[in-house]
Amino acid sequence: STVKHELIKTLTSEEPVLHTKISIVGTGNVGMACATSILLKGLSNEIAFVDTDESRMMGETMDLQHGSTFMRMPNIVCSKGARQVKGETRLDLVHRNVSILKSVIPNIAQHSPHCKLIIVSNPVDILTYVAWKLSAFPKSRVIGSGCNLDTARFRFFIGQRLGIHSESCHGLVLGEHGDSSVPVWSGVNIAGVPLKDLNPDIGTNKDPEQWGNVHQDVVSSGYEILKKKGYTCWGVALSVTDLTESIVKNLRRVHPVSTISKGLYGITEEVFLSVPCVLGENGITDLIKVKLTPEEEACLKKSADTLWEIQKELKL
Ligand code: 2OP
Repeated sequence: STVKHELIKTLTSEEPVLHTKISIVGTGNVGMACATSILLKGLSNEIAFVDTDESRMMGETMDLQHGSTFMRMPNIVCSKGARQVKGETRLDLVHRNVSILKSVIPNIAQHSPHCKLIIVSNPVDILTYVAWKLSAFPKSRVIGSGCNLDTARFRFFIGQRLGIHSESCHGLVLGEHGDSSVPVWSGVNIAGVPLKDLNPDIGTNKDPEQWGNVHQDVVSSGYEILKKKGYTCWGVALSVTDLTESIVKNLRRVHPVSTISKGLYGITEEVFLSVPCVLGENGITDLIKVKLTPEEEACLKKSADTLWEIQKELKL
C-alpha cells in the first residue's frame, strides 16, 4: 500500500473532458511574456510550449511549473519542436522567420487541425499571410496580432495627454503593424465626443497642438524600446493575451488585427493588414466597416502596397 492509496479513495475514474489548450511556439522573451500573462489570467486548463531549443524550453517550463501553487492552471507542459535547417543566407528577418514558419506551421496544422493561430512574430502581417498559406486554414482561424498593439499604444499616448485612462480613449490604428500604420483620427473619441469636432485639423500638419506626434510616438516606440532593452515583450504579450481571451471566452469583442483585406478600401491584393475584426471562439467571424476619410483611405492603401511589395516576392 502507498501513501496515495491510504490517503485517497477514488470515487470515479476521470473521463477526458473537452478543454482549452493554449500552445506557445517559441519560449523567447515574447513567448514567455505571453505565457505569464495568460497564466495569470487563468485563460485555459493547459499551456503547452514548443521550441527547438529543448534546454531553454525545459528550463522555462520547470520554472513556471514551480509557480503552480500560486496559479489556477493545472497543466504546464512542453514538447520539442521540429528543428529548422538554418541556411544563413542573409540577415533578413522576413526570410529567416518565413523559414521558421515553414518548419513549424505544417506540424501545427497536422497535430491541431482545428486550432486558431495567432501570429505574433515580425513582420507580423507578412508572416500571418505565410501562416495562412502554409496551414491551408480558413482565413477566420489565422489571426495576426497586428495593430492591436499599435492601437493600445495610441490609446495610451492619447490618455497621457488627456489624463484619462487609455481604456476610455477610443481610437484605432489600422494597416501595417509598423511604419506605415494608419491612425484613424476621424474616429478618435472620448465618451462619444470626437476629438476632430473640437480640433478639425487633428492629426494633420496644420494642427497647432500637433496631435500627430501621438502617432509618431506609436511608430517609433517599438524602435525606442528595442534600442533601450533589445526587444519588446510586455506590451505585445498583454495585447496577445487580450486577443486570446476574446477567443477562448467567445467574447466577440472588436480588435484591430491582421486579416486578409482584399476588397476593402480599394485593396486588390491578398494582403494581410489590420482592420477591426470581431473575435470569438471561431476566430475572426466578421469585420467592422469603418468609414475612413479619403486621406485615411489613401494611407491605408499605401500601407497595403508597402506590404504587397514584400509579400509578392515570397516563394512558399
Ligand atoms: C513592437 O512593436 C517590435 O513589433 C514589436 O513592440
